Amino acid sequence: MRYLPLEEINEEMFLAHAIFSNDGKILLNKGTRLTPSYVRRLRDMHYSYLYVYERKDEKWDCTGPISDNIRSEAMGVLWNSLISVIERRALNTQQITFVLEGILRDVLQRQDGLFDIIDIKTPDNYIYNHSINVCILSILMGRQLKLERDQLKELAIGAFLHDLGKVYLKSSLKKLEELSTQDIAQIKQHTKKGFDILRTTPGFTIKIANIAYQHHEREDGSGYPLGLIGEDIPLYSKIVALADSYDAMVSKRIYRESLWNDQVLIELEKETPRKYDPEVVSALRQSVAVYPIGSIVQLSDGQSAVVVEVSSSKTVLQYLEVSAGFSEVRADLETKIEKRLA
Ligand SMILES: [Fe+2]
Repeated sequence: MRYLPLEEINEEMFLAHAIFSNDGKILLNKGTRLTPSYVRRLRDMHYSYLYVYERKDEKWDCTGPISDNIRSEAMGVLWNSLISVIERRALNTQQITFVLEGILRDVLQRQDGLFDIIDIKTPDNYIYNHSINVCILSILMGRQLKLERDQLKELAIGAFLHDLGKVYLKSSLKKLEELSTQDIAQIKQHTKKGFDILRTTPGFTIKIANIAYQHHEREDGSGYPLGLIGEDIPLYSKIVALADSYDAMVSKRIYRESLWNDQVLIELEKETPRKYDPEVVSALRQSVAVYPIGSIVQLSDGQSAVVVEVSSSKTVLQYLEVSAGFSEVRADLETKIEKRLA
């Protein structure tokens, strides 16, 4: 199993995860042989990296903390929610709550589960995968912070819909490299717009609406829209703010390259406690894999290997030298990961 740029993929390889349309339909199934025409199509869809199997019978899982079924349903529900907002119809809270139950169940099922994949986003499906990732990360962090199940559900709904107000943004604004003061002011309004939709949605609590309102607030008051300071920012909003920053930083955007998980954790820690709550940052650190599945690492025995499975208790590696086989790296074993190579 490898995480490779499209240029290095050949027709001897197989897709290691499904590819979805923005409304959640499966376009390519896991296990599909990557023929040149499929690779061309994926390039047209602006994919730049994919998880691939070098043999069809590889068992490694690159779907992340939720199943492909739940991901597909969640994308469909978000798609419908965005259309409802555009058409000024009420959100289908029953449908949203149902799919969030599914995400919560999948994420909490694995006791030692982490956010363990390098996400494969494209500019076109960014909001869908970003919303799902922020939701998963928020649940994992909420669990670390010992929230009750009902609280986790409230947090998950707010995290999933945190950027709902972006539906009003002109698409040109999402692609600009340099933004004018006016553009920035318009982007900032997505918090208030999302809040207004959610607070008037029957069945959603004010805490859910507040997540949309406050996820750009920062501890030192430098955030927006109100410039709240630490003690005035509710915990849910602090969690989603950090999950949002983290996922944005590990993602490739038009205006900058993505950072690796270990680099992002260092960057975020530099901004703590100025911008982020130290307890929430520590929950994030315990919720994400520093070396997610697909990372190439150098081991203390001098060999290089690819991470194929990871949890808070162990990391499973496959040596790049095929004959060397597999190794399980646990904290108590002698072989240790020295550094990330790619
Ligand atoms: Fe936002």
